[in-house]
Amino acid sequence: MCGIVGGIGKEHLKDVLIGGLKDLDYRGYDSAGIALVNESKINLYRAVGTISHLEEKLPQEDDYFMGIAHTRWATHGVPSVKNCHPVASYNKKVYLVHNGVIENYLELKSSLLKSGYSFRGDTDSEVVATLIEKYSKSYKNRLKAITKAMNALVGSFALIIIFEDDLNTLYTAKRSSPMILGEGDGFNLIASDAVPIIKYTDKLIELNDDQLAVVKKDSINIYDMDLDEVSKIYTHKDPELLQKDLNGYPHFMLKEIEEIESVVRKLMLTYYQEGSFTFDEEMIKAIKRADHIIFIACGTSYHASLVGARYFRHVGKEASVYIASEWAFYPVFPGRRPLVIMLSQSGETADLIHCLKTVTENDVRSIVVTNTKGSTLERGCDFSILLNAGLEVSVASTKAYVAQVTALALLTNTLQNRRKIVKDLDKCCQIISYIRNNVKERIEEMANELKDKKDVFFLGRGYDYDFSLEASLKLKEISYIHSEAIAGGELKHGPIALIEKGTPVIVFVTDDVTASSMRGNIQEVKARGADVYVISTKSLSQEGDFIVIEDYDRYLSSVAISSIAFYFAYYVSLFKGLNVDKPRNLAKAVTVE
Ligand code: AGP
Repeated sequence: MCGIVGGIGKEHLKDVLIGGLKDLDYRGYDSAGIALVNESKINLYRAVGTISHLEEKLPQEDDYFMGIAHTRWATHGVPSVKNCHPVASYNKKVYLVHNGVIENYLELKSSLLKSGYSFRGDTDSEVVATLIEKYSKSYKNRLKAITKAMNALVGSFALIIIFEDDLNTLYTAKRSSPMILGEGDGFNLIASDAVPIIKYTDKLIELNDDQLAVVKKDSINIYDMDLDEVSKIYTHKDPELLQKDLNGYPHFMLKEIEEIESVVRKLMLTYYQEGSFTFDEEMIKAIKRADHIIFIACGTSYHASLVGARYFRHVGKEASVYIASEWAFYPVFPGRRPLVIMLSQSGETADLIHCLKTVTENDVRSIVVTNTKGSTLERGCDFSILLNAGLEVSVASTKAYVAQVTALALLTNTLQNRRKIVKDLDKCCQIISYIRNNVKERIEEMANELKDKKDVFFLGRGYDYDFSLEASLKLKEISYIHSEAIAGGELKHGPIALIEKGTPVIVFVTDDVTASSMRGNIQEVKARGADVYVISTKSLSQEGDFIVIEDYDRYLSSVAISSIAFYFAYYVSLFKGLNVDKPRNLAKAVTVE
């Protein structure tokens, strides 16, 4: 799960590549490296930590002709200089950067060891470099050597390769990991996504699986695995991709939470115009034809799917929700006419891409709800619903979660032409704005009280339970506090054993169907000494509740009050002095399985 970028012929190439790594650090940020080529020499710089650590090691001059760079999220081998990319082959004939995971690398490594090769680091990527070096001995044609290696690889890879005896050419190849080429005037660029490229050229080409490209200063030639040249197909990318700006905010997460209201309003304007819903009619027909909706997603998107499934059940459709990495191993297609809906902010989540292959092989139609136009899932699914939430930079997803739920609410209301949703969402927007202007201080207070706790529990039932799961994930992700979300009714089946004097329990009481049972649960945890913080809506509130919000229609809980939990997680992380936007061990797009 890494970001790679390469370039040839571009002025100030060092800065272009380092800028590219910063654009790609959502894919990983535990170490970074760069190989810069000039005067027939490959200069290698690598550092553990963020890209700024790498920058400290770089020379001042910036007159390089060609280069490749990498930001890493460790899969094989700890973050260390020897495991940083670019990696060199055994005899330093081949240098490459790699994004992906080679599943059979141990097998390949042991066979290379038997042939007399050895390795400096622990990565699967070094095995790929040495394998290409090995085949280069038998095959003068470098593309042939690369395809020979590709045939031996099981897993996913996007590679940018430099051959030590050809310092005028970049080679690139991919399978199941994204790779974009940018054709410039007298230069060419390559990267894991369009962001590092689009500021220099809008002539973008997406490499397909099992394709290779030969990239020189003035040319790009693409080949299939038989080494037949294939024509270049240019693709369009949204200029919004460029908007990576803090706009005066101290962190992207805070900025993105504060954008939630405008994201919801924009979605309303996009999918409801002049009194009518505007979703793709063919897609609506496909949904109406289906007798079972299968949601597949990961993390926060999985939590949004839980809400979405309730919406579908509410309009009379069977719906089930699966974690992508589970469904991938035990795929099921309930119903006679199932339809798959994948939720993915990034559109690049590897677990989902894996699932999509199975969905397609089984001739089941698919919809992706995504924030990323042109992403792998957006291109691969039959239909897409774009969230138009603007770039989400913070690793902790906030506005995209609310956008996913809002889009699914609009979609399911479309099925019944139920226009009241517009009023309901408008009410939510007022509440979001109220929280931003009037409740933030109260949330800060709660964050300050709980920042040093070891565990924090969230409780809810119904829609409040779905949202508790997301609130809990958000907190643990960026504060490193252990947290669990418990369905109120499940407390007495085990988790209540964890409650003791001073255990913090945050309870949502906004679902009128389940509110009175929740009040019972509150008494249960209070009786065991818990410090309880109740977040309720006016008509369900009781004296002593910590935060009380205006009433709204219960099905929009995740839209109306999600910002309370997001601000809470944000302030806890901030008060603990942690890296809010880039929590440890995580990455924005999880591009490995
Ligand atoms: C969200 O805060 C997380 N960083 C993570 O759970 C994320 O939602 C998950 O990896 C799925 O990503 P996707 O929506 O891009 O597919």
